[in-house]
Amino acid sequence: MPNISYVDGVYQNYENSKININDRGYHFGDSVYEVILFNKGIFYDFEEHISRLFTSLNSINIKFSLSRISLKIIIKNLIKINRVSFGSVYIQVSRGIAERNHSYKGMNIKPLLSIIVTKKLNNIGNDTIGVKAITLDDNRWSRPDIKTTQLLPNVLAKTEANIKGAFEGIFIDSDGYVTEGSSSNIWIINNNNEIITRPIDGQILSGITRKTIAQFAKLNKLIVKEEKFKKQELYKSKEVFLTSASSFVTPIIEIDNIEINEGKIGQTSIDLRNLYFRNSRNNL
Ligand code: PDD
Repeated sequence: MPNISYVDGVYQNYENSKININDRGYHFGDSVYEVILFNKGIFYDFEEHISRLFTSLNSINIKFSLSRISLKIIIKNLIKINRVSFGSVYIQVSRGIAERNHSYKGMNIKPLLSIIVTKKLNNIGNDTIGVKAITLDDNRWSRPDIKTTQLLPNVLAKTEANIKGAFEGIFIDSDGYVTEGSSSNIWIINNNNEIITRPIDGQILSGITRKTIAQFAKLNKLIVKEEKFKKQELYKSKEVFLTSASSFVTPIIEIDNIEINEGKIGQTSIDLRNLYFRNSRNNL
């Protein structure tokens, strides 16, 4: 079990890792984050995740002065110290520590970086497992494109899914279109074998795994379309799958108790998952 974290310049075991009670991430969810998968010292889409972290920081005007190179060195050190070969790294940057006040105008505070490493079960070589999902109204704020830690609707959606024996909650917007999962992007494959996912329209996170999978699919002569699709189309799709740094490519075989493809995992989902593990690499 990994148990060393990095908090504000200090590597320490979890018991001694402390975050100030006045951290704005704690009070307001005034922080951004990233999750990056690694396997034997190899990171998946590392540069893209770090770039998105800086984009998120800019989007909410957090002035983070650490360079990309320093950040990479810290992450690399932390994984080495924890002796984990397969897992994910969670990086969070909050606006910093200040007496509780909604507005941060004029606050001269230093952003707080914290990082933890999570060991994951390496099931890359195993048979792909399909999961169940439920749909729910998308009740999030209007900027889900920013990867902030303000995730209460996502937390409630995932929990409701789990209570109903499902793995993921799929958000549906007020016009009946699928936006994304509580912690993933959603894809369908129609009867013409077109692979479809919602465009980056501000209503979803611009998933890094989503982008990688779209590239791999196109390179393999598959047709990828960025189009909105409705909840009803989900139910009658040939295949449905989700993508994220923590779940890679995961087939969805049942939604709202309706079986997709008679509850069987589709071959294209399996192929894309294999392609992801074979090709999506970035040495640190
Ligand atoms: N979540 N949409 C949402 C709402 C997410 O939270 C995530 C990832 C994604 C997929 O993005 P990516 O492919 O870049 O991981 C889409 C991470 C894994 C999490 O919150 O743990």
